Amino acid sequence: MAVRQNTIWENFLSPMVRFLIDEEKWRRYAASIDWEKQSDRFRRSDIIVPSYYSNQNFHGIEGGYLNPEAAVSYDPVTQYLLPPNEIVVRQALIDTVKVHPRRILDLGCGTGSTTLMLKQAFPQAEVIGLDLSPYMLVRAEDKAESAGLEILWRHGNAEKTNFPDVAFDLVTASLLFHELPSTASQAVLQESFRLLVSGGQVLILDGNQKTLRQLEWLNDIFEEPYIREYAAGNLDAIMDAAGFEAVQTQDVWWINQVTSGIKPIPGTDVTIQKKVRRYTPTSIDSTIDNNDLEGLGSPVFGITA
Ligand SMILES: C[S@@+](CC[C@H](N)C(=O)[O-])C[C@H]1O[C@@H](n2cnc3c(N)ncnc32)[C@H](O)[C@@H]1O
Repeated sequence: MAVRQNTIWENFLSPMVRFLIDEEKWRRYAASIDWEKQSDRFRRSDIIVPSYYSNQNFHGIEGGYLNPEAAVSYDPVTQYLLPPNEIVVRQALIDTVKVHPRRILDLGCGTGSTTLMLKQAFPQAEVIGLDLSPYMLVRAEDKAESAGLEILWRHGNAEKTNFPDVAFDLVTASLLFHELPSTASQAVLQESFRLLVSGGQVLILDGNQKTLRQLEWLNDIFEEPYIREYAAGNLDAIMDAAGFEAVQTQDVWWINQVTSGIKPIPGTDVTIQKKVRRYTPTSIDSTIDNNDLEGLGSPVFGITA
């Protein structure tokens, strides 16, 4: 695997993380899987991979997520990159869910760490994880099977999922937006709006834009080509522009943030949205009366795992 040798990641952090993780264990894991055969089960020929995705490296891995190495190294590395710890940060997204989700779509699900937590938090809901990398989906499926969780994994582009309109109560994305150019971020939020029922919720967990703007040097570390663009932007504003209401961003331990938006319910006044603004994320409430998802069979849209 080719890596760039001149990043802070390669020179400094990568050796540190290598020291912390059991590399031999992950090598054995990587060797135990026929990645091409397994990824072919997910790969869809109708997916057009955008150039911003296929051209980017990730943590020094050439080809980024279109390299099985990314699927193997992602979890062992990520556990050290989300202070105070990965579970606390991901839980902040779960704690911000305001709806009673019957169907959840996790965009850019990667190896499924947040997707699994969503299924655990909402076991009655149908949960779908979508990602552009079939290799990440292989790893995600493996984790779900080990945890005994039934989740559907779908190869696709979060900008254009091909799912029908108003098919989900909850659309989430964790650690996806800092990897997107701003035009793609806008497209993903527009797509989320189309997919959600009225009263449905979108939740974006990612790096804290204010903090990232103050810590320019941090943006050089991880070979993330769009992180500056992400840091310079304002998720609240693009969520507003996509049509969401009650848009709100909370800091998650200074370095991350979770942004929530609600698809307006036609004909209702702003009272519901005001209630949402005052919401304290401790338990699920029934503030929002979702539309039903009538007409959409289950498992959804003929996807079989
Ligand atoms: C940093 S990882 C985050 C993975 C996971 N959500 C998590 O929280 O650990 C970003 C993921 O987004 C996926 N991705 C990037 N652009 C995408 C797009 N346009 N559509 C779908 N997935 C995308 C990548 O393949 C990768 O798995």
